[in-house]
Amino acid sequence: MSEIELQNLSKSFGELDAVTDVSLSVRDGELLCLLGPSGCGKSTTMRMISGLETPSSGTVYIGDADVTDEPAYDRDTSMVFQNWALFPYKTVLENVAFGLKMRGMGKQQRRDRASEMLDRVHMDGYESHSPTDLSGGQKQRVALARSLAVDPDVLLLDEPLSNLDKRLREEMEIELKDIREEFQKTFVHVTHNQDEAFTLADRIGIMNDGRLVQVGEPNEVYRDPKNKFVEEFLGDTNFVSGTVSDSDGQYSYLVTEFDSEIRVPVTSKIQPEASLTVSLRPEFMQIAPLTDESTRASHQTRADGNGGGGGVSGTVESTIYRGSSIRHVVDIGGEQLFVEQSVTDQSAIDEGDTVELSWDIDDILLFRPDGTRVRDRQ
Ligand SMILES: Nc1ncnc2c1ncn2[C@@H]1O[C@H](COP(=O)(O)OP(=O)(O)OP(=O)(O)O)[C@@H](O)[C@H]1O
Ligand SMILES: [Mg+2]
Repeated sequence: MSEIELQNLSKSFGELDAVTDVSLSVRDGELLCLLGPSGCGKSTTMRMISGLETPSSGTVYIGDADVTDEPAYDRDTSMVFQNWALFPYKTVLENVAFGLKMRGMGKQQRRDRASEMLDRVHMDGYESHSPTDLSGGQKQRVALARSLAVDPDVLLLDEPLSNLDKRLREEMEIELKDIREEFQKTFVHVTHNQDEAFTLADRIGIMNDGRLVQVGEPNEVYRDPKNKFVEEFLGDTNFVSGTVSDSDGQYSYLVTEFDSEIRVPVTSKIQPEASLTVSLRPEFMQIAPLTDESTRASHQTRADGNGGGGGVSGTVESTIYRGSSIRHVVDIGGEQLFVEQSVTDQSAIDEGDTVELSWDIDDILLFRPDGTRVRDRQ
């Protein structure tokens, strides 16, 4: 059963189309992350789910009910904001109990419930503190406790972790996962941080320019992006543009901007002369020292030295140690490709070395000039 169902939801502010024709189902008990760049309409979508914003057109269902015209306080949702929105002159306990008071719960019951919630987010002992005395992470916990206290079916979290530093954010990600397991609510979580989305989400909805571009499980959107925007937004990659020269039946060949050929899968949709962009993710490429000049030459012809792979050779321009991996910038005929080498990979590669970059041809994604994906392998 879907807990939240958005049908053709749009919102304009005057001339500006903030959200355009968004249709989305969020399943009961699911955590769905809305991910996208600043200004793409994430908060506006959340605000329409919560009732803080009225759609220009379209319908919002929560449970089985059409709540499009219902005010926020009649919806079974609770929202956590980026800036926590705690009352500075109330104690931590009063902050958490506030929503319960609004719902007419008696005083002792409110206090008990608020204490229990603070306990659950590991903030017991802070009941009588002022929120102004708390750290960012602690304020976030209190804000979460306040939202959970009213026992909503749906929790809406709008960039709840983006004001925290990296370490604290990662800690809170784990905690949110725990809370989520424990409370079994339906969550919609907005972020523009890819790592956060990948850590938390059952499914990710990627938005761009007011539209929902793709919805899917994290590995699905990462490995099978719908278009170039999704591929680019979900992680670092090398885009290499070129023109299809011809096909030998097994592969097509793309003459790239750095004047070497890259083998690409033959598909019914690639015609000779077509302009295409290849995406080569740095972590899908292997890097190896290339000392034998003859091997190097063979790469620039079409000799099929490494099975279903593809590759190019070049010179290491710079090497950056990044902790768990090493990033090399490799110059290929004046163009730069960056590649990620695992620190466990034994081959020592230094600046100035001639190297071979290789990859599995199935890891190559192809995009047309308008950003759409070329699929359909023959
Ligand atoms: N009340 C409003 N009046 C006018 N324009 C608005 C209003 N609320 C949002 N917008 C505009 O609508 C667009 C979408 O805004 P929204 O806040 O939904 O983006 P967002 O994806 O949440 O961005 P961010 O990541 O920066 O929070 C933006 O161009 C924004 O300026
Ligand atoms: Mg926002």
